Amino acid sequence: MLFTPIKIAGLEIQNRFIRSATHEWLCEEDGTPTQALGDLYETLARYDVGLIITGYSYVNPIGKSSKRQQGIYSDRFIDPYHIITERVHRYNCKIALQIVHGGRQALVTSEYPVPLAPSAVRDSSSGITPEAMNVQQILKTIEDFAQAVRRAKAAGFDLVQLHLAHGFLLSSFISPYTNRRTDNWGGSVENRTHIITKIIERSRELVGEDYPIMVKMNATDGFVNYGLNAPECVEVARLLELAGVCAIEVSGGISEAGEIMAQQGIDAKEKEAYFKDYARMIKEAVDVPVILVGGLRSKAVMDKMITKGYADMVSLSRPLIREPDLVVKFRDKGFDRAQCISCNECFNENGVKCSRVDNHIGEESV
Ligand SMILES: Cc1cc2nc3c(=O)[nH]c(=O)nc-3n(C[C@H](O)[C@H](O)[C@H](O)COP(=O)(O)O)c2cc1C
Repeated sequence: MLFTPIKIAGLEIQNRFIRSATHEWLCEEDGTPTQALGDLYETLARYDVGLIITGYSYVNPIGKSSKRQQGIYSDRFIDPYHIITERVHRYNCKIALQIVHGGRQALVTSEYPVPLAPSAVRDSSSGITPEAMNVQQILKTIEDFAQAVRRAKAAGFDLVQLHLAHGFLLSSFISPYTNRRTDNWGGSVENRTHIITKIIERSRELVGEDYPIMVKMNATDGFVNYGLNAPECVEVARLLELAGVCAIEVSGGISEAGEIMAQQGIDAKEKEAYFKDYARMIKEAVDVPVILVGGLRSKAVMDKMITKGYADMVSLSRPLIREPDLVVKFRDKGFDRAQCISCNECFNENGVKCSRVDNHIGEESV
């Protein structure tokens, strides 16, 4: 199954492998993509990844959440991204731009000393209390997201992924832990999802009905007793499908909850695919393709996720940092497990890189 094609909103993807969004720390400080970023994506494309999702790209300067993060807040980024999408399209590979606003997890700078969020809920991991957004700020943010979608299309991205996971702004609107609003942007699941449906509506005005918009959403915030829960995440997925999203990637965790998103110590099959049960619940509730991410390491587990109905596609981050040619190794060279040991040393401000191997972008891993 892993090597059979699939369609997302009419776009044919050559196999079931996605490179999940991975911040590369390979942009200029103002968010301009570099040649090194294009090199990395071209390598993944050359090694037959079906769909590449870029690192998270911020839609406005107050929504920046990391050094050397990709930007998509100005039309001046369209041309440099266009060079990258053209490089990827020389191969049988599709590419999506992931777009984000950092929200309460945004960088604190002298220009932007207080991050924005749905409600002023202190982040215990950073000690920062964000400012609750007023309606005008919400409407401006919706416009910024929609303009980013327009730019993504103009730059030749095949689709765009709204980042609704990991505690960033849109994720924090969905979560009852971080969204305590009592107006129509908070309260019911429908109200907490309202900002996203508005972004999709406005984007449609700019890019038309057919441009594919997918999402990466949290199925859990990672807290035991509060935050997003399983029945609610299914409801969110249903609402997103109704709003017209073409695929749903299922993840989890916010920074306050610790290492939920990229878990360490995935050294046995039983520890792999740690969001699989959420993915299956969502898959049973929607008709659009569901994508599973998180701790996928062995080919057999990946195949099982698809054949047993947990997901339609598998999405990998850390394994493709260590082995950008992993898909080819699985398909043609008899390999059955990624070498990634889930140590998380690839979170590297000098440029994403596996600390265990010398090979880097552009080289075969074995
Ligand atoms: C270095 C690094 C950067 C990441 N950056 C992003 C990002 O920009 N956007 C995103 O949605 N997830 C990001 N993630 C999370 C991954 O997409 C993925 O959800 C997580 O690592 C679990 O998958 P894995 O076990 O295949 O690594 C990042 C992960 C790593 C390791």
